[in-house]
Amino acid sequence: MPHLNALQQELRQLAAERDVVILAHNYQRPDVQDAADFTGDSLELSRIAAADPHQVILFCGVHFMAETAYILAPQKTVLMPDKRAGCPMADMVTVHGLRALKAQHPDAVVVAYVNTSADIKAETDVCCTSANAVQIVERFPKDQKIIFVPDRNLGDYVARQTGREETMILWQGWCHVHDDFRAAEIEELRAAEPGAVLMAHPESRREVLDIADIVTSTSGMLRYPAGNAATTFIVATETGLLYRLGTLYPDKKFIPASRRAVCPNMKLTTLEKCIATLGDEWDDVLDHEVSVGEHVRVKALQAVERMIE
Ligand code: 13P
Ligand code: SF4
Repeated sequence: MPHLNALQQELRQLAAERDVVILAHNYQRPDVQDAADFTGDSLELSRIAAADPHQVILFCGVHFMAETAYILAPQKTVLMPDKRAGCPMADMVTVHGLRALKAQHPDAVVVAYVNTSADIKAETDVCCTSANAVQIVERFPKDQKIIFVPDRNLGDYVARQTGREETMILWQGWCHVHDDFRAAEIEELRAAEPGAVLMAHPESRREVLDIADIVTSTSGMLRYPAGNAATTFIVATETGLLYRLGTLYPDKKFIPASRRAVCPNMKLTTLEKCIATLGDEWDDVLDHEVSVGEHVRVKALQAVERMIE
C-alpha cells in the first residue's frame, strides 16, 4: 500500500475497527483507490465481494456494483459512501421494456452486462462483464438467439467477435463516457505520437474498436503494457484509469483518448464521504446501505453466479 495521508489513515483505522473491507473500482479518485483494500474491474470486485471474510463491504464504485456485491453476499452489510452514484447506462433498460422484447423473441436467452439493476439481472439468463462477455456468449450454440442488454457497443463488439450478428438482438443503451470517443480525434493523437498503442474499452463505438490495438476491460488495460514494448499508450476509457497506469508503469506514457472522458458518478465518492460513512454517520448507516429484496436477489444470483463461475 502506498504512503497514506492523515485522512487515508483515519479511514483505514475506522475500517479496522468496524470489520470493513474497502473495494474501489479502477475509475475511483486516486486518494480513494490508494486507501482501498482492493481495486479492480467489475468482475474482479464481484469475485472479491463473494470471497472476502469481512462483515461489511464499503463499495467505492457505482450502484450496480454494490448491488452485485449484495446479491453474492447477502449476509454482509454493503455500504456506499454516496448512494446517488449510479450508472446512466444501467438505467437505460427497464423491466417493462425487457419483458416486452422477451415476449417478441420467446426463443431468445438474455445476456445482461453486469451494468444493470438487480431487477434486470433477475430477468436474465446470464450476466457478463467487459472482461468475459465474449466467452459467456460463446457458451451458447451458434444458432441461439441472444438478447443482449443494455450496451449496444459492447453487444456489437461481442456479436462481431463471435460471428453472431444475425442472432444477437441488441438493446440500444450506451455509456455516455465511452460512446463519446471518436476515431478521428484519436487518429490526431496518434499522428502526434507515432508508435503509440491504442487500448480501448469495449463500451466504445465500433469506429474506435476497429482502430484499437487491444480491446479489453479496465483491468485488462492495467496488465497489457507489462507485455508490450511500446512506451506510449492512448487510453480509450474513463480517465481514472490513468492514475493506476502511471503508478504501475512510471517509465511509460499514457494519454487519454479524450479529456472529456470523466464519469461524474464515479467521482461522487470521496475520501471524506468514506470517512463520514464509517465515522460520524455510522449511527445512520442505513442511509448508506445497499440491499435487494430476497425474491429478486435469488433470481439475480443465478445469472451472476454463471458470470463468475
Ligand atoms: P470494467 O468492468 O471494465 O471495470 O468496466 C466497468 C465500467 O463501468 C465501464 O464503464
Ligand atoms: Fe456507467 Fe459509463 Fe460510468 Fe461505467 S463509465 S459507470 S458504464 S456511466
